[in-house]
Amino acid sequence: MTNSLLVLGSANADLVVEVGRRPAGGETVLGGDTVVLPGGKGANTAVAAARVGASVALVGALGDDGYGTLLRESLESSGVGTALVKTSPRPTGIAYITVTPDGENSIVVSPGANQDVTPSDVDALSFDGVRVLTCSLEVPLETVGHAIEVAARAGVRTVLNLSPVAPMPAATLGQLSVLIVNEHEAAQLAPTWQDLLDLGPEAAIVTLGSRGVAVVAASGTVEVPAVEVAEVVDTTGAGDAFAGALSARLAAGDPLPDAARYAVKVAALSVTKSGAQPSYPTEAEVSALAG
Ligand code: RIB
Repeated sequence: MTNSLLVLGSANADLVVEVGRRPAGGETVLGGDTVVLPGGKGANTAVAAARVGASVALVGALGDDGYGTLLRESLESSGVGTALVKTSPRPTGIAYITVTPDGENSIVVSPGANQDVTPSDVDALSFDGVRVLTCSLEVPLETVGHAIEVAARAGVRTVLNLSPVAPMPAATLGQLSVLIVNEHEAAQLAPTWQDLLDLGPEAAIVTLGSRGVAVVAASGTVEVPAVEVAEVVDTTGAGDAFAGALSARLAAGDPLPDAARYAVKVAALSVTKSGAQPSYPTEAEVSALAG
């Protein structure tokens, strides 16, 4: 089956612990029980897109271990194609996540198998029928750059969630349809949002957390306000939920501002539950949300 959306990125087991506050250097704090959940920016993005109806496959790598099985099951039960997820001799990536009572998280990632996603995996891909390729980092930069260049050459729209922020070659940024960054990353890259376009992408989206997002295009900037939710439980993976839903709507043919409006709702719903992938809403849940 041809997927209209390909997502290239990491898949991690998220080892999540709730803490009252984060420890300072050299300090120990006690937390709650560890919960193991499927995560990773690439896998999260693909699951978020599939939940809202996209035909999507993940390009990535997992270890031959229990965490790899957890990830494969989460992807497949959400409807994400896994034929392009290879098995690596390295362990499945792990993210060590602490969540504080305000719902904020801090993350340390051990990439493991994600480091094995290579440019030759990209060369083996067919872009026939693919409308959008969405990449995030935590996999080698070289592979992401190559994927964006090959996809753009094949006439596929390219989306890069530059997270965690890393130096991306100008040639790659110049091939991008949409660059997604948060406001801190945007400030590191350019003096103003509009200046992000001078780096080369056709459009940029700056995510502003609880304030929503700004869609930056040559015609100007449109701010899309956030959708208010009753309680923020856990913000882990909210950015990936946004990227996945945005990509799903772009693959369905929506103009960028409409896709962003839809994705803001998905990201808002994702923070009302614990974890990344388990918190992502279905199309029906998004439609039921007012606003
Ligand atoms: O963006 C959230 C994700 O970052 C987590 O699921 C974790 O795996 C890290 O990759």
